[in-house]
Amino acid sequence: MSAPPETLELLDDAAVADPYPLLAHWREHDPVRWSERYRSWFVTRYADVDAALRDPRFSSDRISPYRRARGRAPGDPRVEAAFAVLEDWMVFQDPPRHGRLRRLLGRAFTPRAVQRLRPRIAELTDRLLDDVAAAGSADLIADLAYPLTASVVAELLGVPADDLDRFKSWSDRITGLVFGGLGDPDRHTDGAEGMAELTGYLAGLVERDRTEPAGGLLGALLRARDGDDTLTHDEVVATGVLLLFAGHETTTNLIGNGVLALIRHPGQAPDAPGTVEEVLRFDGPAKTIARLMIADVELGGRTLRRGDRVFLCPAAANRDPEVFPDPDRFDVTRTPGRQLGFGLGLHYCLGAPLARLEASIAIPAVFDRLGSPVVDGPLRWQPVLLSRGLDRLPVRITPA
Ligand code: HEM
Repeated sequence: MSAPPETLELLDDAAVADPYPLLAHWREHDPVRWSERYRSWFVTRYADVDAALRDPRFSSDRISPYRRARGRAPGDPRVEAAFAVLEDWMVFQDPPRHGRLRRLLGRAFTPRAVQRLRPRIAELTDRLLDDVAAAGSADLIADLAYPLTASVVAELLGVPADDLDRFKSWSDRITGLVFGGLGDPDRHTDGAEGMAELTGYLAGLVERDRTEPAGGLLGALLRARDGDDTLTHDEVVATGVLLLFAGHETTTNLIGNGVLALIRHPGQAPDAPGTVEEVLRFDGPAKTIARLMIADVELGGRTLRRGDRVFLCPAAANRDPEVFPDPDRFDVTRTPGRQLGFGLGLHYCLGAPLARLEASIAIPAVFDRLGSPVVDGPLRWQPVLLSRGLDRLPVRITPA
């Protein structure tokens, strides 16, 4: 890394391409670091990230304070409506509302519902890799990871295959709204339009499901009960958008990052029992997890004040030498178990079994079907704070 780490931030080019030297520097020298540029804290030690993820004073409810602030000067009604959908996402809720939404989703999104997808994931992977193998070269994001994960989440929800392309384009546009931070009005408008089209579409599917149950997760959400409690129509639609969103980009990134790690470490087995866990640790899709302080808290010798924004960094914690010996080494035979790539505590990723299933099928299939692909062209990493993933992964397939 050429610039001195002190002057770098996570979204500078060198750190977007490889954030790990910078994160290691912070973890060692300034583990609870205030960034003037982002007006936020960055927490990098495993013990601190772990403690913060279990601490209710690190709040997940960061949409409603933002909406209250905007409410004093209301803007574009489409943007307001899009934020109202985000406000219904459990990932942006604290107890008690969070627990209610999570229990009801848990009734519908069961391990059995995930396991039922196994043959479809294998079939879709095979079909996509047939085309890649025939072409001799590919972008494994556009030609494999992205269409695979989009199809799987669409099928999970019960979206008809014919509508998949529209579905994917809405998801892309909403990405700017969710991952882009809360500052850029143009991105908000485009994301808000995508959100309006997607919620309108899902609302139609939910209505149809009332009279003609289609057997997907949306219908199961509509009928999910926890005692007398059920989800409202708006909550079913918002949860559908959350699942589409949470389940698609992240899993694309896991497959992309995993294939790249294995291309770069040819001695490591793509199909070892620990491969997917090691990818989550070594180069997982969750670079940071955002929280908002609702009390003053001492952490790592610093005082985080009520109202401060905090980025907890699994990408740094997962390479903390206090927890993982020789942390910069990619080793699929490592004893797994403590990586924080799916978060921890109340908000621990509800889709982890599905993400693991998709990655454990798709990653080994790439090497089974394509032998030893080589990277063929520049890699482009997404310049975003929250996630770590490739925009493209161009490969050439070498004849066996
Ligand atoms: C490799 C892929 C994935 C990664 C790295 C990932 C990561 C995460 C992380 C870090 C959180 C915690 C966020 C927080 O604490 O604020 C989370 C929550 C969540 N994830 Fe995932 N996720 C992945 C795939 C999926 C999939 C496939 C689904 C569903 C289809 C999903 C659904 C959810 C939901 C619903 C939550 C919110 C849980 C809650 O707030 O209680 N995720 N995910």
